Amino acid sequence: MRIDNQYSTINFKTSYRKVIKPSYIMGDCYEASTYFFRKDLQWNKFFNHIIEKYQNTPKVNVFSLASSDGSEAYSIAMILISKLGEKVAKKFFPVIAVDFDRTITRNARKGFMNLSADDELRINKYTGNKLNNFFEPTNQRFLSEPMGSSGTQELLTKFKTKPILEDKVVFITEDLNTYVEKMPDKNNLIFCRNCWPYLWRTSDEFAQKLSLKTDMNSYLVVGDFDALCCPMNLKNCYGFSMSKDFQNVFDKSGSNYHDGMRTFFHKIEED
Ligand SMILES: C[S@@+](CC[C@H](N)C(=O)[O-])C[C@H]1O[C@@H](n2cnc3c(N)ncnc32)[C@H](O)[C@@H]1O
Repeated sequence: MRIDNQYSTINFKTSYRKVIKPSYIMGDCYEASTYFFRKDLQWNKFFNHIIEKYQNTPKVNVFSLASSDGSEAYSIAMILISKLGEKVAKKFFPVIAVDFDRTITRNARKGFMNLSADDELRINKYTGNKLNNFFEPTNQRFLSEPMGSSGTQELLTKFKTKPILEDKVVFITEDLNTYVEKMPDKNNLIFCRNCWPYLWRTSDEFAQKLSLKTDMNSYLVVGDFDALCCPMNLKNCYGFSMSKDFQNVFDKSGSNYHDGMRTFFHKIEED
């Protein structure tokens, strides 16, 4: 049972939603805050590599696990369309966005996003100023709910997601622990970022199951928030290798970058 469900459909930052269950221990609460082109990945460098890597692969299965409102899934779709064009990028679509929060996924399917000025800047930065190709502004503006411990509020503009983008993402409401078993077992580009602490007791079992879905032609991308809670931080855990070239990225190459425990003390330089 949830006792504190801070959420407002009108005043919805893309996306701040804090759910706390009664005991308030890790695994019993989660936050769904997210933003476009979240900083813990070198988006340009990584997607240039992805495009080359999958040049001869006819279908790539792309997942945004723990997707929140879809900011991440839409970021993936936008960067691929911007780099390849809609037609060539087709083999990466749809991006499957999975989250167990019904309110968020239900709202995500409505096709509106509330963007902060920073979201707008980041979208333009990574798409070559194509924000308007993907989103139509409405005249609705409002302050977000206070976010995080600092209680910061942002001025948001409500945008309609245009069909070119909306069509590329499918939202599924499901717990990752069950969804993982339904995933295909090859050619997967899996984003599973900034949710590992919430998986808590199930994180080991989940990592093992995810490993079965990660072949030599697959990648797993995690986030900075996952630093201490994601089991793959340990060397070669469940067969995952930490990429030397891309921080927060794991593969099955067998050539692990670090010898010991993974640490995230240095922040990723944006590209
Ligand atoms: C901080 S958001 C991460 C959003 C996005 N991946 C990012 O990095 O910006 C964490 C999300 O994990 C989701 N989540 C937590 N535990 C989950 C589970 N067991 N199954 C599915 N989603 C889960 C929450 O609903 C929330 O939307």
